[in-house]
Amino acid sequence: MKRKIFLATTIFSGIFFITRCNTSPNSDNEVREINPVRDTLSADKGMGRFKEVPLTHPLNDTDVIEGQAIYKAKCFSCHKLTTEKLIGPGLHGVTDRRTPEWIMNFMTNTSVMIDSDAIAQQLMVTCNARMPNQNLTDDDARDMLEFLRKNDGKN
Ligand code: HEC
Repeated sequence: MKRKIFLATTIFSGIFFITRCNTSPNSDNEVREINPVRDTLSADKGMGRFKEVPLTHPLNDTDVIEGQAIYKAKCFSCHKLTTEKLIGPGLHGVTDRRTPEWIMNFMTNTSVMIDSDAIAQQLMVTCNARMPNQNLTDDDARDMLEFLRKNDGKN
């Protein structure tokens, strides 16, 4: 009797283990899952005060310089300017994958966005970290956006 129970337990845990391995994402699946969120332009404008953000061409150089100073003071510890992840995603390409409104809403309304925006939520899962509010003013956020556009080679 004991043997039978032992056998049954072994078989069941074996099956459990196999199904678990199959459903847990391997690195290939993970890349396919993450790419739509990370690499394609989403029309999502996020939630917050910014409904329409007009972009200037050429870039506003003063904003770029101020944005860079904010980056060094407040963002540098968690974000690289390449595509490489640190605590948060690498910021290179962010202006290609997100709308200006989403970026500015995310920077100024961070906790609400992480609680309710699908992309922000997915990023939190991917990074396994939650971005703290950075207390940026609307002007700071606009400077940051300009700096991020510059970082993405926009002009
Ligand atoms: C303590 C670490 C930390 C700091 C400091 C930080 N962030 Fe983040 N950031 C994150 C994490 C983690 C995420 C992933 C999103 C989430 O938390 O849901 C993120 C996401 C982002 C995103 C979205 C990226 C994407 O791929 O869509 C932007 C834009 C961003 N941060 C900008 C900033 C800016 C600008 C600053 C500085 C003013 C800053 N962050 C400071 C951790 C941080």
